[in-house]
Amino acid sequence: MFSNLAKFAVAACVLVQTSSSLAQDLPTQINAQAEASINLMLANISRPDTAPGSVVASPSKANPDYYFFWVRDAAITMNTIGLLYANSSGPKQQEYLRILTEYVTFSRHLQVTPNRSGGLGEPKWMADGTPDNEEWGRPQNDGPALRALTLTRLANLLLKQGQTNYVKQALYDGQLPTQSVIKADLEYVAHNWQNPCVDLWEEIGGYHFYTLIVQRAALIAGSKLANQLQDDAAALYYKEQATHIEQFLGQFWNPSGGYISETIHQTYGFQKSGLDVAVILGVLHGNTGDGFLSPGNDAVLSTAYRLMSSFQQIYKVNTLKGMVPAIGRYPEDTYNGSGESEGNPWFIATLAYAQLCYEVSRDFARLDNIKITNLNVAFLSFAINDGNTLKEGMTLSKDNPLFAKVISGLKNRGDDFFVRVLYHNGGADNNLTEQFNRYSGYKQGADNLTWSHAAFIDATAWRSFANRP
Ligand code: NOJ
Ligand code: NOJ
Repeated sequence: MFSNLAKFAVAACVLVQTSSSLAQDLPTQINAQAEASINLMLANISRPDTAPGSVVASPSKANPDYYFFWVRDAAITMNTIGLLYANSSGPKQQEYLRILTEYVTFSRHLQVTPNRSGGLGEPKWMADGTPDNEEWGRPQNDGPALRALTLTRLANLLLKQGQTNYVKQALYDGQLPTQSVIKADLEYVAHNWQNPCVDLWEEIGGYHFYTLIVQRAALIAGSKLANQLQDDAAALYYKEQATHIEQFLGQFWNPSGGYISETIHQTYGFQKSGLDVAVILGVLHGNTGDGFLSPGNDAVLSTAYRLMSSFQQIYKVNTLKGMVPAIGRYPEDTYNGSGESEGNPWFIATLAYAQLCYEVSRDFARLDNIKITNLNVAFLSFAINDGNTLKEGMTLSKDNPLFAKVISGLKNRGDDFFVRVLYHNGGADNNLTEQFNRYSGYKQGADNLTWSHAAFIDATAWRSFANRP
């Protein structure tokens, strides 16, 4: 305990200097890390001792051993590769496309390989594409939905470029039984969202907000793709299932707590409050742009505020003045990155808050007015760093100076979460680990977590979107 506090004091001294210098030169620092993150992420894909298209969660082979292919981590990573593909040109773009198509081939191989889940919900594979026979929490049904979402976005890009043959053959063939990746995933999602499964943190059984909202997003995006490729009956069916999920998601609101709960109808595992950054991640990963539980939804902002407040209280690093709170997975977390003791802030969680702020800023900027409600007043007051001005019941029209203040306040808070991340990242190695210590602020857990790098790149992209009119 004391040694932790001593370390913390040292870290705090460094911080005073670093956080202010970081804030001064933030865009340069963000871009430098984003560039490094691209290369470090690429280094975890198609490694020589794995299969082409395979992604290791981290190069770490011991304490923890993350040298595996997780369907979830890989789909999130490949979504980021898709973003890079869409925003590049020339040989770089060709390289991203090669990676994506290798991932398609690898994914199809996994879909047809027998495994202990007995279906597409198998969460984790050996990096060479052979089954992992370890005892594990299975199935995890967010995986196929995330993969379908990532690949549907790719399919849409390729269709625009006239690559219809490849799309119809490898991605969406409109046949049953299907030989194509997206269609197989959509069929699995449409027929399995009704069943409980293990959550994204691989710990508890039940119905999970994260899983369901990305399943809903996959079915919505998939339905549009099916429509475009003349698979009309499937388009209708996927849409119908998405509507059922939307109704079911209404049950996750916890009215007395004022937050959306991550899990309901729990089947096994330890009991938690349900306050969980998985809800925020779900809203970001499952955003279909149609306004359903979008980042600016006031139940989402209420959840974000309450979760942030809980971490404000439990992490020693959050007593530092002048910084936004570092964010972890959920308050009761005990996973320290290689074993069990106390949970810590995570890079992907803190970056999710940066991205949330940028997305809400951009969405609100497009509105005619912003309504202040009992649910969003706390988060938006935090955004403008003023607890006295915004009141429930106010409507801020575009010509009200407070409207612009909320928009820019949200953007600034996005930057503040980046400052938090860059401070704990520290050093010149650009190694975004999984976690950073709740007392000392030092990095711990898996080195160069692929997902951490992907999340950094995503939040960087959203920062630039928020700055565009
Ligand atoms: C326990 C952690 O809480 C969980 O999230 C993780 O996936 C597994 N251990 C495997 O490392
Ligand atoms: C632990 C996380 O809880 C889980 O979501 C992730 O898939 C694995 N680590 C691998 O990164």
